[in-house]
Amino acid sequence: MKILANDGISQSGVDALESKGFEVITTKVAQEQLENYINENQVVGLLVRSATQVRKDLIDACPSLKLIGRGGVGMDNIDVAYAKEKGLHVINTPASSSASVAELVFAHLYGGVRYLYDANRNMPLEGETNFAKLKKAYAGGIELRGKTLGVIGIGRIGQETAKLGLAVGMKVVAYDPFIENVALQLSFFDGQTVDFNIETISKEEVLKQADFITLHVPAQKDYVLGKKEFELMKTGVGVVNAARGGVIDEVALVDALDSGKVAFAGIDVFENEPTPAVKVLMHSKVSLTPHIGAATGEAQDRIGVELADQIEALLK
Ligand SMILES: NC(=O)c1ccc[n+]([C@@H]2O[C@H](COP(=O)([O-])OP(=O)(O)OC[C@H]3O[C@@H](n4cnc5c(N)ncnc54)[C@H](O)[C@@H]3O)[C@@H](O)[C@H]2O)c1
Repeated sequence: MKILANDGISQSGVDALESKGFEVITTKVAQEQLENYINENQVVGLLVRSATQVRKDLIDACPSLKLIGRGGVGMDNIDVAYAKEKGLHVINTPASSSASVAELVFAHLYGGVRYLYDANRNMPLEGETNFAKLKKAYAGGIELRGKTLGVIGIGRIGQETAKLGLAVGMKVVAYDPFIENVALQLSFFDGQTVDFNIETISKEEVLKQADFITLHVPAQKDYVLGKKEFELMKTGVGVVNAARGGVIDEVALVDALDSGKVAFAGIDVFENEPTPAVKVLMHSKVSLTPHIGAATGEAQDRIGVELADQIEALLK
C-alpha cells in the first residue's frame, strides 16, 4: 500500500511505516498534479501538514484514497467532514508537538525578562561603540522564579506550559471555560515524579494575578485578549501568543506595549499570516518567531511515529 507524504515526514516516520509494510513516497507533488499522481500510483494514504489542500474535488477524484493524515493539529486545509462522509479515515497527531510549543513559550519568556529580543537587535549595531550604554539599558532584568504564570486555555499545550512553569519555580494560575481542574505530573530525569493539581479560576482573576500570560486556546470568533483584557492586567506584564493568530487583538497589544502596560510580548502566530502587520514586526518590545512552535526535530519524530501507528491500526 502506497502512502504519499506530500508535505514531508520525518525519517523515523518513514522507517516506522516501511517496517509495517507500507511504501512511502516523499516526492512533493504540486497541488494541481496531485489528482493524477494519486490515481496513477493508486495511493491509499495521503499525509499532509498545512501546505497541501485536501478539498472535496480531490477527495471525489481519487477513489483509491482511504486515509488522510495531518501531521500536527489544525485541519483547516482538509475537508474533514466531507472526507469522513465519503468513508475515508481522517487522522491527526494533536499531542505530539505540545512539549515543543511549551518550550518555545519559555524561550520567549526567558528572552523577554532579560531583553534578549532587543539586545539581539542592538548589539550588532551598537555593541562595539556603545557597550556601556547597552549594558545599562538591559540591566533591569527579572527572574521567572517566584512569579505567577497565567495560562489561558489549559488543554494539551497549556498543561505542558504549566508544567514547565512549575518546574522553574513559578506559581501557575489558569483559566479554561471547559476545564475545572487538571492533574499534572512532573517527571524528572531519574524517574522521580511530583504531582500537582490546578483548579482553574476566572479569566478576570488570571488577568489580574499573572505576571506573565500565555495563550493556549483554539482559533475563535472573538479576541481572547483585547483592550478590555489588557486593562485588567498588571502593569509590566509579559504576554505570549503561540496559539493562533487572531486570539490577541494586535492593535490593542501595540497600544498596551506603547503605554507600558505590557512590558514585552512573545509572538509566534499572527493575525495576518503569512504577512504579519509591520507594526508588530517592528515593535521594539516584541520577541518574534515565524510560527515555529511545533518545529522541532523531536516533535516531527513523534508526529511521524504517531501517524505510522494510527495508519497501521486503520489500514492493516
Ligand atoms: N505555535 C504553533 O506552532 C502551534 C503548534 C501546535 C498548536 N498550536 C495551537 O495551540 C493552541 C492550543 O492547542 P492544544 O493542542 O493545547 O489544544 P487543546 O484543544 O488541547 O486545548 C485548548 C484549550 O483551550 C480551551 N479554550 C477554548 N476556548 C477558550 C477560551 N476562550 N478561553 C480559555 N480557554 C479556552 C479549551 O477548553 C481547551 O482546553 C491551538 O490554537 C493550536 O492550534 C500552535
